[in-house]
Amino acid sequence: MQPTVEVLNDADELAQRAAQLILTQTQLAVARNNFFTIALSGGSTPKRLYELMADPTQQFRSQLPWDGIHFFWTDERHVPPDHPDSNYRMVSEAMLARAPVPSTNIHRMSGEKANASEAANDYESQLRNFFHPHAGELPRVDFVLLGVGPDGHTVSLFPDSEVLQETQRWVAAPWIAKLNSYRLTMTLPVLNSASTVVFLVSGSEKAEILREILEGEPDRFPAQRINPTNGVLSWLVDADAASKLQEHSN
Ligand code: 6PG
Repeated sequence: MQPTVEVLNDADELAQRAAQLILTQTQLAVARNNFFTIALSGGSTPKRLYELMADPTQQFRSQLPWDGIHFFWTDERHVPPDHPDSNYRMVSEAMLARAPVPSTNIHRMSGEKANASEAANDYESQLRNFFHPHAGELPRVDFVLLGVGPDGHTVSLFPDSEVLQETQRWVAAPWIAKLNSYRLTMTLPVLNSASTVVFLVSGSEKAEILREILEGEPDRFPAQRINPTNGVLSWLVDADAASKLQEHSN
């Protein structure tokens, strides 16, 4: 299915639109199944969204059915949860600690484990225990929130990384040479099994890569490998990020 691309005026509208989408989908899923699963990314773009969702002066904080939302992470840095680089810490400070989220609904990656592969295995077990997929099937997350780096990476799937070929593992611990560190990341099979995948992209520094991803040659960047097999893919982008798109710039 072709992805949809929606252009919002600025970063605030982008966060509002994403929060509205999450609210609508969460309410529907919780009414139907009593729970909703969401996998969150790190980075500066979604931080504004997380803050908005927990902002007591806005509608989302009181309308979201927090008890039913289970929070997962698409990727994590190889650091303890209180480290300034931790994606868990960012999400926690921006949203989880400021909203009535039961601690049993928080499913973080153990970035503090000395052995990153062990941490990846542990997270795969956590996913298996929560989602209970049938043998040979993949966990199906309701909503995956993604960002894009200027090099076309998404989650911790960087260009030319071997982990892009992964077909068996659900979570991996790739060595990222340019960052001189390990990362923990959900793999393409899990990301592409989600029901809804939404990219959030903001700022003029993303305009060129966004153009290349959406309108350039296919299969050059990790973000282009996101293509849900039985789900919906949307790009929510602000006007600055969309400024080089032929079809969507103003
Ligand atoms: C991370 C992310 C990463 C992020 C992009 C975009 O751990 O940093 O999961 O993939 O989404 O780098 O980040 P920005 O929103 O900060 O541009």
